[in-house]
Amino acid sequence: MIELPGLVYVAPDVDALHERLASEMLRAALQAVEERGAFHLALSGGSTPEPFYMHLCIDPRWRLLPWFRTHVWMVDERRVPTDDPRSNWRMIRSSLMDHVPIPEAGMHPMPTDGEAQDDRYESELLRTIAPGGGVPRMDYVLLGMGEDGHTASLFPYSRAARITGRWVAGNDGPGVTPPPRLTLTFDTINAARRVAVLVTGQKKRGVLHRAGMRWRVGDADPVALPITGVRPWDGTLSWHLDREAAGDA
Ligand code: 6PG
Repeated sequence: MIELPGLVYVAPDVDALHERLASEMLRAALQAVEERGAFHLALSGGSTPEPFYMHLCIDPRWRLLPWFRTHVWMVDERRVPTDDPRSNWRMIRSSLMDHVPIPEAGMHPMPTDGEAQDDRYESELLRTIAPGGGVPRMDYVLLGMGEDGHTASLFPYSRAARITGRWVAGNDGPGVTPPPRLTLTFDTINAARRVAVLVTGQKKRGVLHRAGMRWRVGDADPVALPITGVRPWDGTLSWHLDREAAGDA
C-alpha cells in the first residue's frame, strides 16, 4: 500500500478514477461558487488528463459543474503556437473547453509569444483572483507527474524548481524537456485550496514510491524531486492513482 501525504485514492479502473476525480472537483467548484462567487481551476497538460477532460464534458453527471462561474487557468505551457500539437492550451480547449459553456472571460491561456510572459500571466492572476492584493489562491489545481518526478513544468534541478517569491516562472535550459516552458511556481500551487495529482501507469510507480519514502523520512527535496515540493500550506492534497501507479496491481 502506497503512503503519500494527504488523501490517496487508488481506483480499480479508469472509469472509477475519473469519477472520483470529477466528483471531488464538482464539490470544490460548488463550494467555491457558493462562498466566493467564482471557481478558479488550474489544469495540467500532458497525456494523462486528456481522457478525463473528455469524460467531464461527456458524462451528464458533471453538467452541474458551474462553468459560467469558472476560470480555467493553466498549470504550465510549452512555448509553441496554440495550433502546435504540443500546446497544452490546444489540448485543453479541444478536449474540454470547446464543449462546455465557459465564458470568454473565464479562459486564461498562458502567453506563448512576446516579452515578459511570466510577468504578464502573473499580473492576470493577481488582477483576477486577488484584485485587492495578497495571494492568488486557486480553488483547485490538477497536477500530473512525469517519470522523472517533475510536476507542472518544474523539472528536477531546473531554474523554476528553485524559484520562490513569484507566482509564474519561465523555465528552460538544463533539465527542462524542450520546448521552453511557462509554469505556475510551487508558491502558487501550494497556496491553492485544493491540489489533486493524477498519476497512472506502471512507469511512474517507482518515482511515486520514492517520493512517498522521502516524505515519510522528512527528506522532501523539491529541487531534486519536484513532486515532493507539492505541500499545500492551508489546503488539501489528494492523489488519484490507478493500481499500476500505486503498485497494487
Ligand atoms: C506538461 C505537464 C506535465 C505533465 C507531466 C506528465 O505540460 O507536460 O503539465 O507536468 O503533467 O509531464 O505528463 P503525462 O501525463 O503525459 O505523462
